[in-house]
Amino acid sequence: MFEFADRVKRLPPYLFAEVEKVMREKKAQGIDLISLSIGDPDLPPPPVVVEALKSEVADLKNHNYSLSQGEPEFRQAVSEWCKKRFRIDVAQDEIIALLGSKEGLANVARAFVNAGDHVLVPDPSYPVYNNASTILNDGVAVSMPLLEENGFKPDVEAVHPEKVKMMFLNYPNNPTGATVDKKFLKQAVEFARENDIILCYDNAYSEISFDGYKAPSILEIDGAKDVAIEFHSLSKTFNITGDRIAFAVGNKQLISGLTKVKSQIDSGPSVYIQKVAAKALSTYKNDKPPDFLKENNKIYAERRDVLVERLCSMGYKCPTPKATFYVWLNCKCSSIEFATKLLSAGVAVTPGIGFGEHGANYVRFSLTQPKERIIEASKRIAALLSCAV
Ligand SMILES: Cc1ncc(COP(=O)(O)O)c(C=O)c1O
Repeated sequence: MFEFADRVKRLPPYLFAEVEKVMREKKAQGIDLISLSIGDPDLPPPPVVVEALKSEVADLKNHNYSLSQGEPEFRQAVSEWCKKRFRIDVAQDEIIALLGSKEGLANVARAFVNAGDHVLVPDPSYPVYNNASTILNDGVAVSMPLLEENGFKPDVEAVHPEKVKMMFLNYPNNPTGATVDKKFLKQAVEFARENDIILCYDNAYSEISFDGYKAPSILEIDGAKDVAIEFHSLSKTFNITGDRIAFAVGNKQLISGLTKVKSQIDSGPSVYIQKVAAKALSTYKNDKPPDFLKENNKIYAERRDVLVERLCSMGYKCPTPKATFYVWLNCKCSSIEFATKLLSAGVAVTPGIGFGEHGANYVRFSLTQPKERIIEASKRIAALLSCAV
């Protein structure tokens, strides 16, 4: 009876729906399904967060509206964290609190993208850049292929900057697990500055890293603040995906545009979760991760190693990611077919096509199950493909 708006009709079909439907059916049939598909940590929030939640929720002063840009106390904690972690200076008016970085990524485009503006979107990538940020703001997505031979980095020099208003970059990268160095970030900042492009840098996985790798902030690059806004999330760092707390830092005008849009739409994260988040961020005493995070990253690294080792022994070429809790496998065939086949063996992975055309022959494994379950999943895959592991 009611028609969806044209921009909603332009949203691509939800490619994960079929896999999710089969997952539900399998679970309903009582089949033991090992889900390596969802990027939602199985590890609990650290005690410091649980304790702070209890006390801040119990404080009755913490249940009124927050300021649209976030509580000053929270922004102060963000500023101190940025200084300790990346040695960068961000002032109160260069910070905004978010209800998760997802809405921030969508709303920043609403503040700056006009109908018909081009938006550079990595392919494959987190679908929000293409769908919520671009299509739902009547922008035109221009794909930047992330190819394995280029280390899953876009070839920025190959991009035609005409009509481009905004670009998205995300490292450590979902879904490929790729990381970058400051040389690449410098090139990206120069490109954005030369062409007056807003650079949205999604750093949601900056704290999930292994083997001594430390993810940089784009704001460590000279001149980045002229063009960049960086998105951080407490979701994966503190295992609180459902509590919805994140922040953006960077160019003052970009922060103020985002604040303007958000003040018309939502009223920001609850005061208590901002206070909890401030306490969580203050567990960083210097640029090193606090102990609980070191432990979590050790667990992810062990899971990563057992999975990568087994996939390689099945004959796949599978890079070992230095960050994120994802393993991106070139399955050498259609990702939907491969994922559906694995489901028949009780293993759920995410088909890469859901992240863009260049993911068509890849699947993403999430390391969000205990090591034993990952070993069991590997055995099932090996049996299915008749490989020995
Ligand atoms: C690359 C990337 N950015 C942002 C997000 C959003 O995280 P949140 O909205 O929980 O902060 C995710 C979540 O999976 C993600 O993978």
